[in-house]
Amino acid sequence: MRFSPHLLDEIRGRLPVSQVVGRKVALKKKGREWSGLSPFKMEKTASFFVNDQKGFYHCFASGEHGDIFTFLIKTEGLTFPEAVERLAEEAGVTLPKPEVRDQEIYDQRQRLSALLEASVGFFEGQLAGPAGADARRYLTEKRGLKRDTIKAFRLGYAPNSRTALRDHLAKQGFTVEEMTISGMLIAGEDIREPYDRFRNRVMFPIGDWKGRTIAFGGRALDPDAPAKYLNSPETPLFHKGHNLYNAHGARGPAHDKDRVIAVEGYMDVVALNEGGFAESVAPLGTALTAEQIGLLWRMHAEPILCFDGDTAGKKAAHRAIDTVLPMLKPGMSVRFAFLPDGLDPDDLIRQQGPQSLQAALAAAQPLAQVLFDREWMQDDWSTPERRARLEQQIRLLTARIEDASVRTHYEQDMRRRLQTAWGADRAAPFRPSRETGFGRQYPTSRNPGQPSYRGVPAGGPARGGFGGRPNGYGGARGPAFAPGTPPIHALASSSLLNSSLVSGDKTRPGYRELVLIRTLINHSWLALAHAETISGVTFLAPVLSRLRDAILAAVSLDNSLDSSGLRSHLEQTGHGAVLDLVDRSVTHRCHRFAEPGTGHAEVEAGWRHALTLHERQVGLKAALECAERAWHEDRSEDAFHRICELQAELERLARPEDLDHTTEDVAAI
Ligand code: UTP
Ligand code: MN
Repeated sequence: MRFSPHLLDEIRGRLPVSQVVGRKVALKKKGREWSGLSPFKMEKTASFFVNDQKGFYHCFASGEHGDIFTFLIKTEGLTFPEAVERLAEEAGVTLPKPEVRDQEIYDQRQRLSALLEASVGFFEGQLAGPAGADARRYLTEKRGLKRDTIKAFRLGYAPNSRTALRDHLAKQGFTVEEMTISGMLIAGEDIREPYDRFRNRVMFPIGDWKGRTIAFGGRALDPDAPAKYLNSPETPLFHKGHNLYNAHGARGPAHDKDRVIAVEGYMDVVALNEGGFAESVAPLGTALTAEQIGLLWRMHAEPILCFDGDTAGKKAAHRAIDTVLPMLKPGMSVRFAFLPDGLDPDDLIRQQGPQSLQAALAAAQPLAQVLFDREWMQDDWSTPERRARLEQQIRLLTARIEDASVRTHYEQDMRRRLQTAWGADRAAPFRPSRETGFGRQYPTSRNPGQPSYRGVPAGGPARGGFGGRPNGYGGARGPAFAPGTPPIHALASSSLLNSSLVSGDKTRPGYRELVLIRTLINHSWLALAHAETISGVTFLAPVLSRLRDAILAAVSLDNSLDSSGLRSHLEQTGHGAVLDLVDRSVTHRCHRFAEPGTGHAEVEAGWRHALTLHERQVGLKAALECAERAWHEDRSEDAFHRICELQAELERLARPEDLDHTTEDVAAI
């Protein structure tokens, strides 16, 4: 708001500077002036002067100089309008009602809102029409979205044109200036003709808390587009750090299900919705901001932040810790769910079904644990000096918590975790965490002394936690727990949780079984030649079983089918999404036998070898399950060691490099 000079003078005229300043500084009259000790600088002799006639103060010690308004701004941190309001009230001056300007702002927002709504309609129409054929195919076939979902999220298509939206909006009476302010057009001094910002993109309308469209995210259809996702710029309606994708849609479900999930991408939110997790939101292309945490807290006291299990995901989680820490309030926190390496929630749900996501969510870890893990994993703490450094670091972190009560509890919690960690150290002397792969185990505060299953299905005693390295758990010195008691451990890092999920979840396609399927797709003759063997293969992931069945059905129906014929057949029969996932998941192109163009003999040898290893893996997993059941029953050390052995063997088997050694094992078939 602007204040007229006349108005400001009137306030100045009614309030002597000495009156305003006198509340902060003890002033003594000295001739025509007042003097006192500077409020801006520590001093013993007065060098701060106030002159009521001239209406200003001056500080000879610091050089500060100003009137009653600047005094409040400088000494109380008020903004200029706040200072004016405060002093106007004190002076008994009525401020003009800001109606006119408010009305203007309100009108502009209404116009922009209507413009964005018209854009949503336009993009929806384009998606449904002839221009949207590719985009439709992309969404339904490649991304596997249902029509209802596309409708519910009001997804659309921005055609590959610089003027399509602009022309459409102009016909509806919007000006180019409005289109530019709303972010829908790109304009600038050196741009002669403002043009459509979003071109050849699938459009995701972004709504505010109340569901009104305030911006867009657009996903490129062209893989060579410079940015995969493009968002609206900051506009009078849209501040990306202050909003969440699907905030409005998630509110009801979050309330009903007593949970809210924050994921990284728009597509993740949409896929989660289809998977039955309507209580999902995403930030808008940036790391979570404090404002977004605030929004999440309006939906639930402990939102679950869901991250990829890879390094980038962990980094993002650690960044989130730093954002949330100062904001923690009694009862208000966040939890962290980590997904198996390299999978985002969309991938996970489509590859392994909603139950795998459910498992990851059920295993969500409290902030305190993730924070401690983060620090613990930084280094090895084998000397007193280093331990002191860890303690210091943790002290600094907890000191950032502003709420005194939460801070105190964190201090206690961290002290307990440290003591337990040091204690575990006495039982089995320190080794660098890098060597053991995961650092020392310590019980969690939530269920001390209890195994951390946290709902991980068939999770077993810290399977991931041992990372296939039973020696890390006290090693040759023997286990660090008394026989008969459950192994004390925690999922000491997110990666451990991942591996526990990975090995624990029967539905996750293993890398090797993905390679097996990919080989069949790229070499359809193999499927025909070994149909019987193939029909008997146990795939751990049901999606791959189904795909295998479809492949066998296709080649038996038409035994002249080549690979591209097989692919299009599979796509037509609704297996496009799985097919795509197989292609995307097999990233190590070092298995030549799985790739197109490899000779029959090499393909067959490689495939048989991979199959042998796969079947051994299946057998080991079954044995592991038995061992776990046994451990649950008697908690014996024997069962525990068996689990460790099997786990180590499985991990060795899971290394994809094994697939390259195609000699010794082939004979075993
Ligand atoms: P990702 O690159 O992880 O993509 O970006 P995604 O969500 O898995 O997308 P698909 O599955 O390939 O379609 C995650 C989020 O980061 C922002 C977007 O908000 C996206 O949803 N992002 C990503 C951008 O803003 N710009 C980009 O170029 C890429
Ligand atoms: Mn994705």
